[in-house]
Amino acid sequence: MKILLLGSGGREHALAWKIAQSKKVEKLYVAPGNAGTAGMACAGCTCTPQCVTENVAMKADDFAAIKAFVLEKGIDMVVVGPEDPLVKGIYDYFKADEQLKNVPVIGPSKQGAVLEGSKDFAKGFMQRHGIPTAAYQTFTGETLEEGKAFLKTLQAPYVLKADGLCAGKGVLILPTLEEAEKELEEMLGGMFGGASSRVVIEEFMSGIECSVFVLTDGKDYVILPEAKDYKRIGEGDTGLNTGGMGSVSPVPFANKEWMQKVEDRIIRPTVDGLAQEGIDYKGFIFFGLINVDGEPKVIEYNVRMGDPETESVMLRIKSDLVDLLEGVATQTLKEKTIEFDDRSAVCVMLVSGGYPEAYEKGFPITGINDVEGSIVFHAGTALQDDQVVTAGGRVIAVSSYGKDKAEALAHSMQEVEKIQFQGKYYRHDIGQDL
Ligand code: AMP
Ligand code: GLY
Repeated sequence: MKILLLGSGGREHALAWKIAQSKKVEKLYVAPGNAGTAGMACAGCTCTPQCVTENVAMKADDFAAIKAFVLEKGIDMVVVGPEDPLVKGIYDYFKADEQLKNVPVIGPSKQGAVLEGSKDFAKGFMQRHGIPTAAYQTFTGETLEEGKAFLKTLQAPYVLKADGLCAGKGVLILPTLEEAEKELEEMLGGMFGGASSRVVIEEFMSGIECSVFVLTDGKDYVILPEAKDYKRIGEGDTGLNTGGMGSVSPVPFANKEWMQKVEDRIIRPTVDGLAQEGIDYKGFIFFGLINVDGEPKVIEYNVRMGDPETESVMLRIKSDLVDLLEGVATQTLKEKTIEFDDRSAVCVMLVSGGYPEAYEKGFPITGINDVEGSIVFHAGTALQDDQVVTAGGRVIAVSSYGKDKAEALAHSMQEVEKIQFQGKYYRHDIGQDL
């Protein structure tokens, strides 16, 4: 099979690493990819010398360029990493095109992507299907006063969510009613542009978060290994929010009993609910969950894999991922099983100095080839005259196996020392709070 993977982050490098290991894959292209996604052996290639993964200079949401490339190379499957192309309707674009309609796109239809694209839609969906989540109401500029009145019925802290996509910045958690009222007014007044013209106000839930992932073909599903990500910049989960400073899988409280609750109350009703509402969904679903006194509740849906969760989750999938993706495309997931690696996996993210605030890019990165036993996934990197340089806030993920999370973390800690770039920063405590 020839596969095109869209995206350019650590998530996409981890997906590419796993896809390229499949004997079914003769060639993998990544668009636009990063300095790590090119040059991996394609396990199913019979050429001499063997084909390697290749980057394509094409934006993940440039549908016309993607079409031309898919036709030129005879691509058999498109796997979508980030949410953007999905929210913009890449699935529907393929389905509506005579030349592309038989090329499967792994990812939901535009309508399915609204589960991530609109918090209000996601909350309404959960309510319609009896899926446990925080109580909520949605307000607009016209109903600001009703919004303030609703806030008064809740207890601190107050949770305000911009309805639309805000690059992970659209959720505010406020300690006092006064601040919540003020921020509500600002959000509805255009703080996040059109994305906050509607604001979801919801009850605060207290507990530990866990990310659960499934692959669905619209009828059935397989549950992938769960993970926890570490969003704050500082040790002990302190300081500003980031895209994610590391991840761990498995999550100890997500035991068999808890996961059974997740499957019965959340996963099955979601997949069935999508089908009942006539929403075409063949791809990953990311359930952002919180464990409230032993009971799983949904914080949010995403319509893609998590980053940096994917950088530990992929290590724990023993099965051939491409075989599962084929199951999605042909709606035969029912016949597939997934095997997990019993070891723990920990991913530690190396970030640019200053991140998540202003930081500089373009610093040379050395020592990547000295890493032993761990897996290096590039995130914000680029190639400049054959030199790998920093090109983003989150630069490189170092993922390791261990018999437990302490051993996996210790291994990553040892190996991250070998990678050097100016301003390098990382957390030392990934997974240690569980
Ligand atoms: P979201 O973008 O919906 O995932 O929200 C971002 C983060 O805000 C989540 O990962 C949680 O840490 C936090 N959060 C969102 N909603 C709630 C809630 N209802 N109660 C407590 N924390 C929340
Ligand atoms: N790690 C959270 C996300 O990918 O949205």
